[in-house]
Amino acid sequence: MIVNEFIPKPYQHLLDRGIAAYSAPSNIALVKYWGKKAHQIPANPSISFTLNNCKTTTVLKYEKKTSEGFSFDVFLEGVIQEDFKPKIEQFFSRIEIYLPFLSAYHFVIETSNTFPHSSGIASSASGMSALALCLMQIEQQLNPTISKEFFNKKASFLARLGSGSACRSIEGNLIVWGAHANIKGSSDLVGVKYPYEVHQNFKNYHDTILLVDKGEKQVSSTVGHNLMHNHPFAEQRFEQAHSNMDALILVLKSGDLNTFISIVEREALTLHAMMMSSDPYFILMKPNTLQIINKLWEFRAKTGLHICFTLDAGANVHVLFPESEAKQIQEFIKTELAVHCQNGHFIEDMLGQGAQPIKI
Ligand code: DP6
Repeated sequence: MIVNEFIPKPYQHLLDRGIAAYSAPSNIALVKYWGKKAHQIPANPSISFTLNNCKTTTVLKYEKKTSEGFSFDVFLEGVIQEDFKPKIEQFFSRIEIYLPFLSAYHFVIETSNTFPHSSGIASSASGMSALALCLMQIEQQLNPTISKEFFNKKASFLARLGSGSACRSIEGNLIVWGAHANIKGSSDLVGVKYPYEVHQNFKNYHDTILLVDKGEKQVSSTVGHNLMHNHPFAEQRFEQAHSNMDALILVLKSGDLNTFISIVEREALTLHAMMMSSDPYFILMKPNTLQIINKLWEFRAKTGLHICFTLDAGANVHVLFPESEAKQIQEFIKTELAVHCQNGHFIEDMLGQGAQPIKI
């Protein structure tokens, strides 16, 4: 599948060397992307909050080379990472047609995360979007006429080919990816800003990430998505995602927090239910994940506060809550939930405005 819109005209002249730098945030899905077709096309639409504090910063240096093929070195916090190479090599080969300069340069990729590497927080969304943005910055250096709109659109398109959820990490703060009949402009190819009215209740929404298990992911996302092929409940799940998107459109407009909570928690549990009912099957929650969920439900029933949770494909818990209730809920997290986190660690985050170029 080739998308002509993103194939550049031949560059007038290649620079000998240069540098690009971007920081890109992580994101947390409310309606989950789980299952994909060829060419990184999602099986269903998804929507996410862009985060503010969990970020990857990437500095990309490039220098002309004469050898064939791709050539790069990748560093995380200054330490060379041989095991990152296959994924980046695959990314480069998927996107070379859209960025023909890729084989003309040797690259040094220097990356760092604001969150600890071994936190169980997926760095693929922020990492791949930061890299895609740096590559777009190089394209802009080679062709300064590129518009801001095209820059972001192509960055999202490229990031998706690195990691699906990365295409939702370019802009803030509510992003849709995947074609949906009732969301104007939505596309399987790129993440787009949610185009409709959003109630005050959802401004500055908080996400505190409780680090239950900082280990490596038990199931890689590639393996996880593949489990949806021939899954007995796949079709119903994909339909459910479409109808949850419809329900969210109403909720985001009206500010109905109780319905928001029921959609978001059902999405999280459905994601895990899909994994528990696949072949082979997995349980990615840990005992502390359930302890947290049960305590959170008890606290919500007792106080009437609008605290809820969502999960990624792992054991960590994302606790979501509105700005107006933040003080009481943050206190509850510190005193009651932190004990269930590995070494008591959690990260306070909230809605953010998207990626930023870095001056160097
Ligand atoms: C559970 O984007 O990591 O976080 O496209 O294979 O790189 P790849 O998958 P990835 O999958 C993320 C899945 C999820 C849900 C979501 O973010 O929507």
